[in-house]
Amino acid sequence: MRYRSLFLCLLLIPGSFLTSKGQSSSPKGLVADHAMVVSAREEASKIGIEILKQGGNAFDAMMATEMALAVTFPFAGNLGGGGFMVYRMADGRIGSLDYREKAPLAATKDMYLDKDGNVIPNLSTQGMLASGVPGTLAGIFEAQAKFGKLKPNQVLQPVIDLARNGYVVSKKQAESLRNHRQIFIQVNGPNTFFGKEFQAGDTIKQPALANTLERIAKKGKNEFYKGETAKILVNHFQTNGGIISKKDLIQYKAVWRDPIVFPYRDLKIISMAPPSSGGITLGQILKMLEPYPLSKLGHHSSEYVQLLVEAERRAYADRNHYLGDPDFVKIPTNQLLDPSYLKSRMSNFSFEKASKSADIAHGDLSFEESMETTHYSIVDADGNAVSVTTTLNGAYGSKVFVEELGFFMNNEMDDFSAKAGVPNMFGLVGTEANSIAPGKRMLSSMTPTIVEKEGKLSMVVGTPGGSTIITSVLQTILNVYEFDMGMQEAVNAPRFHHQWLPDLVNFEPKAFGTTLVNQLKSKGYLLYEGNSTIIGKVDAIRLLSNGKLEGGADPRGDDKAVGY
Ligand code: GLY
Repeated sequence: MRYRSLFLCLLLIPGSFLTSKGQSSSPKGLVADHAMVVSAREEASKIGIEILKQGGNAFDAMMATEMALAVTFPFAGNLGGGGFMVYRMADGRIGSLDYREKAPLAATKDMYLDKDGNVIPNLSTQGMLASGVPGTLAGIFEAQAKFGKLKPNQVLQPVIDLARNGYVVSKKQAESLRNHRQIFIQVNGPNTFFGKEFQAGDTIKQPALANTLERIAKKGKNEFYKGETAKILVNHFQTNGGIISKKDLIQYKAVWRDPIVFPYRDLKIISMAPPSSGGITLGQILKMLEPYPLSKLGHHSSEYVQLLVEAERRAYADRNHYLGDPDFVKIPTNQLLDPSYLKSRMSNFSFEKASKSADIAHGDLSFEESMETTHYSIVDADGNAVSVTTTLNGAYGSKVFVEELGFFMNNEMDDFSAKAGVPNMFGLVGTEANSIAPGKRMLSSMTPTIVEKEGKLSMVVGTPGGSTIITSVLQTILNVYEFDMGMQEAVNAPRFHHQWLPDLVNFEPKAFGTTLVNQLKSKGYLLYEGNSTIIGKVDAIRLLSNGKLEGGADPRGDDKAVGY
């Protein structure tokens, strides 16, 4: 009864939660007058800014930043992967680009099953059969050709120099490379490039990657999909038991898609459409939350955590059942985002007691988290904004490193459902909507997002983190617009996550007090009490009321905001 009374009481405060806030807090992150790039590596953010200063715009900086991440952050930055970009031009035009990987033409629905129909361990995560056809080069060239101002060779020159002259290994990076060294050797042989031991402070020079980038800078994306690079890549796959073919590369195309757009209070949210689940799931959660007075409940109060968890539970159940590649499956987007449908989804929620995921929807589906993706946000001096999330899927993808070309290949095929009801490497269990088919794109959780307020650009945001991507973007938006945090403060704030199944609330370690934990337990919430990892690495930019930009670079990684 107590909670119902609290809620009714809050409902009686007129107009108190009908508009968002998000303007009054003082910035704690980097503030810049004109333009900003926030990414997982300082070198990449700096190169993005350098291109802007040379007269490029956000789309030129996108190409430079993405490739600089491929050089300095091989964990997730890539030539052998894919991604999604959402943009908002200074004049308000919006759009999005899908450069997600595709299943090779020789892929089959049961390609990861043995003769008894069981999933063969590691086949979709490691080695030659794990890779989808890469989309990154098609994506950055498509975006730059449509909107950029400079020549690709000018944009790529500082990246080529970086690959050739080297970058300094950070402490976190040295640890990651050390942890994966044996598996690099196991997959690629003892002489593989990343089989060497790298310490923090070492400089990594990558001449093979510099040569690949140099050819691409001279000849354009066709070098990757039809030229010498394509030949080397296909030969590597065909002679080592892979199925990616010449035809796969020739046929690959990035696709412009209408973004998912919806209002939340006085904001307009612009996010990624399928084949990413990000925009629809974020939309469902925010619209389920909208009728509630979140700011009055208090940041990380048990009622606030409950509401988010219950909305997340319901939205992720829908995600698993309905979403897949829109070129292959019909997605009921309008129904999924319909306010009355979402109101009905929350009708059985009570502040007094946890819902049970088993009572919410179909199947015995589950997700876990992954950090092996990367996000960057850019605003240029004219006010054009891009929000880009890109990935190899797992850390260093399939671990297949094409020595002659100098890059890792993705293991994005694992984002498909190899068999209905069997979890993939992140615990994801899919349905027919996300089954494997030749040329199909696998479902993603990537959520590059842009927020408008009063018709103006207000925030550019996104993160890695597998299924936790969506809930990290959600909490960052709520931190700013419901709880008046600045950008850096909103990024720093501890996060929690629920994804329907497993029916567990995950908290970042040591970040939430025992009072909250006990309150939730007393209402029947099941909390993950093992060694939870960090949730997301958000890189974001918000527009301040004085027209300046505040960066939020996630301290959970080596992330950095650079601006001028
Ligand atoms: N590979 C992670 C994702 O796309 O969600």
